[in-house]
Amino acid sequence: MSTLAVYPGSFDPLTNGHVDIIERGARLFDRIIVAMLVNAEKSPMFTMAERVDIARAVFKDHPNVEVDTFEGLLVDYVARRKANVIVRGLRAVSDFEYEMQMALMNRELAGAIETVFMMPAAQYSYISSRLIKEVFTLGGKVHGLVPEIVERRLRDKQTARV
Ligand code: PNS
Repeated sequence: MSTLAVYPGSFDPLTNGHVDIIERGARLFDRIIVAMLVNAEKSPMFTMAERVDIARAVFKDHPNVEVDTFEGLLVDYVARRKANVIVRGLRAVSDFEYEMQMALMNRELAGAIETVFMMPAAQYSYISSRLIKEVFTLGGKVHGLVPEIVERRLRDKQTARV
């Protein structure tokens, strides 16, 4: 049986923590789909098309990584794609409560789908998309915390605004 995993999230923007989890997932599963939730935030930093474009560029040399979008319930999307695993990253104990609630709710909704938690490399354990946006917007440096293409696109947005 081949294992198809779905790694869902907002990815606004994709961070090196996400990249680390996706690379680990790509080694563990036959195929991993990075599934971006449409309309997750009211005023996102990057449009959905930009987020998809960024992730496809970052994983262009990973044939078993696919980038897709989804709307509605995650378990419905996972079933539609005939996947059997949901991957979520756990950075710290503080992530655990919310993640456990989601995993158990998803199990209640679709018992055959298993959630697998993966830990990113310790150097990425404090990175979140929310902090990246805040730090960058306030003039801090995010070099090494996000893929280069994200850094470039953030700078492009800044230039476009001034
Ligand atoms: O990157 P995020 O914002 O932590 O991702 C959260 C996400 C997209 C995994 C979660 O909000 C989700 O699955 N949304 C889809 C709607 C859904 O299925 N809700 C019930 C989850 S128990």
